[in-house]
Amino acid sequence: MRTVFWESDTLKMVDQRRLPGSLEIVTLRTHVEVAEAIRDMTVRGAPAIGAAAAFGLALAANESKAQSAAAFLSDLDTAARTLKASRPTAVNLAWAIERVLRVVGPNPPFPPSLPGKGGWGDRSVDDLRVLALAEAQRIADEDVESNKRMGRHGAALIDDGDTIIHHCNTGALAVVDWGTALGVVRTAHEQGKRVHVLVDETRPRLQGARLTAWELQQYGIPYEIISDNMAGYFLRAGQVQKVFFGADRIAANGDVANKIGTYMLALAAHDNNVPVYSVAPTSSIDLSLRDGSQIPIEERDPDEVLGLQFHGERIAPQGAKARNPAFDVTPNRLITAIVTENGIVRPPFDVNLPKFVIRNP
Ligand code: MRU
Repeated sequence: MRTVFWESDTLKMVDQRRLPGSLEIVTLRTHVEVAEAIRDMTVRGAPAIGAAAAFGLALAANESKAQSAAAFLSDLDTAARTLKASRPTAVNLAWAIERVLRVVGPNPPFPPSLPGKGGWGDRSVDDLRVLALAEAQRIADEDVESNKRMGRHGAALIDDGDTIIHHCNTGALAVVDWGTALGVVRTAHEQGKRVHVLVDETRPRLQGARLTAWELQQYGIPYEIISDNMAGYFLRAGQVQKVFFGADRIAANGDVANKIGTYMLALAAHDNNVPVYSVAPTSSIDLSLRDGSQIPIEERDPDEVLGLQFHGERIAPQGAKARNPAFDVTPNRLITAIVTENGIVRPPFDVNLPKFVIRNP
C-alpha cells in the first residue's frame, strides 16, 4: 500500500499521527485540507509531502471554477502558495509544486499529450485538470521507482552482519513507497544480508520509536530502539558499523538538513570513524543554495517538546518554556557519501552533486 494515493477524485493518505496504535486512512477533498495535513504531520517525510502537495494541486484544479486557462493558472498559483507555506524545510514540497505548475503553464517542459486546439490560452480548463493530475501521479510513481534505485545503490554499502544506527523515519511512510535510508536497509535485508538496526527514537515527535520500529517489525528486520542520547555510547563501544539517515534538503556543497539530532549523531560517528550516509532522491538537492546556512529551518510548537508524558504524568513543570527546531544541518565534512537514485555521490560534493542531478529541461 502507498502512503499517499489518489482514489475517486480524492487524496488518501495513511494517518501517521495514529501509528503504531492503528493504521487509518484519511480522505482529503481540498488543497487546504492537504496543507493542514502536511502542517500537522498526518503526512510527513520529504518525498511524501512533495507527492501529497502535488496531489493537493490536483485537488485545487478540481476546485477551480475558472473558465479560462489564465484564470485557472491563477487559482493554482494561489493554492500553490498555501501548500508551500505548510512546511519550509523539505525542498521536495516546492519542487513537486513547481513541476505541476509548469505542465499546466504556458511553457510546459514537453508538448502536452492532449489534443490541442491551438496555443496554451486556448486549452480547456478540463484539459489542464487532466495534465495536473497526470503530473502529480507521475511524481508519485517516479518516487517509488527512485526509492528502489536508491535501495540498490545504497545496499552495496552494507556488509553482512552490520549494525546500523538510523535516525527518524525514512521508510515507506516517509515516501510514496519503499523508503530512502530505510529502503537501503530493506534492500540489503532482501538480498539476504544480516542487518541489525539501532533505531534512534527521534525526539520530540518520536518518528523512530513509533514509525521506523513499526516498519521494521513488518519487514522482519531485527532492531532495538535507543534513545537519541545513547548513540554516542554505542558508536564509541565499536558496536556500530554505519550510520544512515535521509535528508530534507541538501545544499550545493553537500550540507544536509535532516531531522533534529542528525548533526549530533554525525559528529559522534565521525569522531569514531564510522561512515555516515545520507540517502535522498535528487528532488531533495537544492543546487540554488550555496551551503546549509541558507536552508530555512522550521521551528514547531514547543508543546511537542513539553507535552511528553512519563507514566501518565506530563514531564515538564506547568509554565515551562521550550524550543523546538525540527531540523538541523550536518556539515558536508561529516558526510561520507550521499546516495541518490542516480548513484552514490562522494566528496567533493560541490563538484560531484551537480553531475547526479538531472532536471527536466
Ligand atoms: O518532520 P518529519 O518527520 O517530516 O522529518 C522527516 C525527516 O527528517 C526525514 O529524515 C526526511 O524527510 C527524509 S525521509 C525520506
